[in-house]
Amino acid sequence: MRYAAITGWGMAVPERVLTNADLERMVDTSDEWIVSRTGIRERRVVGPGDSTTSLAVAAARRAVERADLTADDLDLIIVATYTPDQFLVSQACLVQAQLGGTAGAFDLGAACSGFVYALSVGTQFVRTGCYERILVIGADTLTRLIDYTDRATCVLFGDGAGAVVLEATDQPRGLLSTVLGADGAGSEHLYIPGWATLVPESAPLVQDAPGTRPGLRMNGNEVFRFAVRVMGDAAADAVERAGLSFSDIDMLIPHQANLRIIDAAARQLDLPREKVWLNLDRYGNTSAASIPIALCEAEAAGALADGNNLVFVAFGGGLSWAAGVVRWGTEGVCRDRACWGAEAKAGADGPAA
Ligand code: UT7
Repeated sequence: MRYAAITGWGMAVPERVLTNADLERMVDTSDEWIVSRTGIRERRVVGPGDSTTSLAVAAARRAVERADLTADDLDLIIVATYTPDQFLVSQACLVQAQLGGTAGAFDLGAACSGFVYALSVGTQFVRTGCYERILVIGADTLTRLIDYTDRATCVLFGDGAGAVVLEATDQPRGLLSTVLGADGAGSEHLYIPGWATLVPESAPLVQDAPGTRPGLRMNGNEVFRFAVRVMGDAAADAVERAGLSFSDIDMLIPHQANLRIIDAAARQLDLPREKVWLNLDRYGNTSAASIPIALCEAEAAGALADGNNLVFVAFGGGLSWAAGVVRWGTEGVCRDRACWGAEAKAGADGPAA
């Protein structure tokens, strides 16, 4: 059996901090309201020198270095984002332009569920034997599309990027189960209008009145209800599909959107708070970046041990959801470049039967 172990990881967030006290001066809100309804205290916000590219590249460099690889070693780069710096070319190609190498590169759009979707796609490429070393990035700079006169959304989001490197192993490591779901009928509850809907009805594109900017639109209550419904179910399904029980789970690493939503998911898995990794108080909701950032911080804090079973679970625009059990550790990964030729040969496309 082939698996796709996580052998490298890295994160990057902008330096600029936007606190709840800052927001109190910008809109009619309070630290007390934000903390009690969401758990968020501050978030990182892109400055003039930052972009989705700069954050994704910084996270990717750390992940590739941690895996003791170079960009030339990579077979594929997948970037989960819905805030790319350009429509053409892909965010993944913009990242590769700075990293180097000639790996295949493409973007994946599943909003805040994007990183878990991308992790599952990358894992399939490794498990089928098609590729050996894959870089998966979750990166978003949503604050560029937030209306800072709308208190219902501007308190929630922050910017950042996180990346992991996947490498083939014959031991059960990396993503062991996958649950992907979407309910397109709920797309009206969380979206960013595109050119087709904006141009005919509202040129010039950027207007000053709240709600008319080409930014994020959200029905928070609907998204909240949806999230509470799917997060726990998806996580429980992922545990079952991995052939495990809740007592086998060492850590829940959830999408960091709202503490009340995370608590509901943890209750369903019967997990105490100390088994749930939380950092939304410092970063808010960083969309596709939130799970890989949380993973990096959990590792840096010494909270992850070889063989630990982690549950990743996310929800977001689509409406979409995604979950999986990840077994931490790099057992069975060939760190000796001399064996790569044989690995590649074993994984190469064979002749049609
Ligand atoms: O990755 C997915 C991204 N989206 C999400 O995660 C959003 C999911 N939804 C949520 O997290 C919650 O629905 C929110 C945090 C957005 C809102 O919390 P809530 O408990 O559902 O509050 P609410 O929308 O029902 O609003 C309650 C009150 C309202 O006032 P009235 O009508 O009761 O007088 C709002 O106008 O709170 C008011 N309110 C605020 N007050 C102070 C809404 N936003 C704010 C604010 N500060 N920032």
